[in-house]
Amino acid sequence: MNYLVTGAAGFIGGAVAKWLLANGHRVTTIDNLSTGKKDNLPEGINFIEGNDYDAIVLEKIQNEQFDAIIHIAGQSSGEVSFEDPEYDLKTNTLSTLQLLKIAHKTGCRKFIYTSSMAVYGDAEFELVTEDTVPIPKSFYAVGKLASENYMRIFSSYGIQCIALRLFNVFGMGQNMDNLKQGMASIYLAQAIKTGHIVIKGSSDRFRDFVYIDDVVSAIDLFLNRTGEGFEIYNVSNERKIYVSDIINYIENCLPNITHEYVEGTPGDQHGIYGNSNRLRELGWTPCVTFEEGMSRMIVWGKKTLNADMQAKE
Ligand SMILES: NC(=O)c1ccc[n+]([C@@H]2O[C@H](COP(=O)([O-])OP(=O)(O)OC[C@H]3O[C@@H](n4cnc5c(N)ncnc54)[C@H](O)[C@@H]3O)[C@@H](O)[C@H]2O)c1
Repeated sequence: MNYLVTGAAGFIGGAVAKWLLANGHRVTTIDNLSTGKKDNLPEGINFIEGNDYDAIVLEKIQNEQFDAIIHIAGQSSGEVSFEDPEYDLKTNTLSTLQLLKIAHKTGCRKFIYTSSMAVYGDAEFELVTEDTVPIPKSFYAVGKLASENYMRIFSSYGIQCIALRLFNVFGMGQNMDNLKQGMASIYLAQAIKTGHIVIKGSSDRFRDFVYIDDVVSAIDLFLNRTGEGFEIYNVSNERKIYVSDIINYIENCLPNITHEYVEGTPGDQHGIYGNSNRLRELGWTPCVTFEEGMSRMIVWGKKTLNADMQAKE
């Protein structure tokens, strides 16, 4: 099969592209290397460098026949969406519209999008289903919800559109240099690099963590499933992990770590966790627990960051 996976120089896109290439598919990616790294690109990928909302970049795929477009690229920080809302709009929403237009024009019949649990905001009931009314708290979340709505409309042109509302994705390969996105990676990177964790916001906030391999398997499930229309799925573990749990876990695994709490960031959610029955009913089961994932990530993080630090010396 022939797939477009945007953002393959990043954490999730890289893992998805690697999986598809390993299974014998042809994969093209568009990545502007804003948070991704060229070194992350899996071998054998067809790489187009640039913004996935720019006409000049999209021209390069005008004649491709993709079996599916898996749109993963985007800036993924609520904090950054307040610092630069216009860029957030282009990278997270205009990109989706442009790629849907490409799908329509080229006859691509499947569009999978990494939306986010951020769309829910602080819901009235902490355990959210796909029917919970979304009330975004950040510009980032507004853009994700708008993207979903573009997909809903484009699905009426015969494109099967699937929005995966990812909860907190974590695991090996996560960007340990980006201290504005990814709770587990932000705390772990600080612990390994400086021995001191600065936590923006309170200890009683909580998240629902889903391991990267389980996200790849969710995407794979939809690549193998025919269907039509527009569908939304939570990709979550249905488990609350408090900020204090993450800090305790890291402090128990690494020696002499200290931490402090400072003011939170705009638009940060206090906590929700996701009911994933809709996805489980299709046969998806998350396989990696928070503890198992963190233990893998700590081993990997120490090795990666120590190698980086040695290279800089
Ligand atoms: N990581 C999470 O917990 C999480 C949760 C929910 C949703 N998501 C979504 O998943 C996607 C991937 O997140 P990630 O954690 O892999 O982030 P990441 O920063 O590691 O990867 C994003 C990739 O997209 C590229 N990129 C960004 N804007 C681009 C643009 N306009 N054109 C081309 N390339 C661009 C970056 O260079 C990077 O390689 C994002 O859309 C994010 O909103 C992530």
